[in-house]
Amino acid sequence: MTTDRASAAANDRPRVFSGIQPTSGSFHLGNYLGAVRQWVDMQDTHDTFYCVVDQHAITVEQDPAQLRENTRVSAAQLLGAGLDPERCTLFVQSHAPEHAQLAWVMNCITGFGEAARMTQFKDKSAKQGNDHTSVGLFTYPDLMVADILLYQADEVPVGEDQRQHLELSRTLAERFNHRYGQTFTVPTAFIPKATAKIYDLQDPGVKMSKSASSPKGIVNLLDDAKTSAKKFKSAVTDTETVIRYDEEGKPGVSNLLRIHSAMSGQTVEQLEAHFEGKMYGALKTELAELFVEWVTPFQRRTNEFLDDPAALDKVLAQGAEKARAVAGPTLAAAYERIGFLASRH
Ligand code: AMP
Ligand code: TRP
Repeated sequence: MTTDRASAAANDRPRVFSGIQPTSGSFHLGNYLGAVRQWVDMQDTHDTFYCVVDQHAITVEQDPAQLRENTRVSAAQLLGAGLDPERCTLFVQSHAPEHAQLAWVMNCITGFGEAARMTQFKDKSAKQGNDHTSVGLFTYPDLMVADILLYQADEVPVGEDQRQHLELSRTLAERFNHRYGQTFTVPTAFIPKATAKIYDLQDPGVKMSKSASSPKGIVNLLDDAKTSAKKFKSAVTDTETVIRYDEEGKPGVSNLLRIHSAMSGQTVEQLEAHFEGKMYGALKTELAELFVEWVTPFQRRTNEFLDDPAALDKVLAQGAEKARAVAGPTLAAAYERIGFLASRH
């Protein structure tokens, strides 16, 4: 390969890299609307690399069989949601050893204090206590930096919580380039606004999250569609009867309007007009129908991949091959610049 781009046709498009952890069996609606959907859309406009980051997942203890299963289910859901192996590169992080290799280099150009200032690490380690916090969790951001820099990514779609890690990737790319010569593209974070945060249907003050105290407010994409429809219908709203967008005063209704808008493509203003004079039940029922209409083919496609592990393995193997064709030369350049003796075996 004479170019580091995966295909000639994608050459003039900005390069995108993003990753998602295989830490749960089913994605929830927040993962889909906040992240996965952008990944799907960007296939048409960018040269896209998407990764199931199993090595990030083991920064906290995982059951081996469960991790393997979750990795498969995550990849199948990404394909079910519309990632197309013909138009993007989808792979599993541990299948490309360059990630761990470059992460070591990144560890060595990161200050201890700099890593200790990462708020996600501070929050998680404070919750778990030092004795239950792995060194891997501490260096987690450097593995993420390696993920991004290996592909010379221009843009990285992530949630707001990853902003600081993206800043670190910019800092380290610049530091390396400055010390050793131009090697890495300095990436920018791409944080979508409108659907950036989806809230819990039972507790619209907190974001929808797999770590919620009760499953009632979480819409899991692989749950029985009828169960999810019921969750929409029993979503917490307020004692008014007007369907109006007001994040402060009406967080429940606003969340439902935002989800509707993201799924139907109508603006919130159009929805307010459409629901004028109607009761909350009308909004909930329509939303439940919209969701079922979308989730039914999503589940069918996801299950096709889960029922055919050989086909899924093949997609992931081809993805890893495409990924390594880009990551390998980047790692080799970094090794050379840093002064490692070339390996001739
Ligand atoms: P996590 O569940 O933290 O592994 O998140 C995986 C991806 O989904 C990240 O890009 C998050 O930013 C995104 N995400 C998670 N929860 C939500 C939510 N409630 N609303 C919007 N995006 C979310
Ligand atoms: N840390 C990210 C998250 O929890 C996942 C991730 C790993 C990632 N490597 C990445 C995201 C590289 C973007 C780019 O959401």
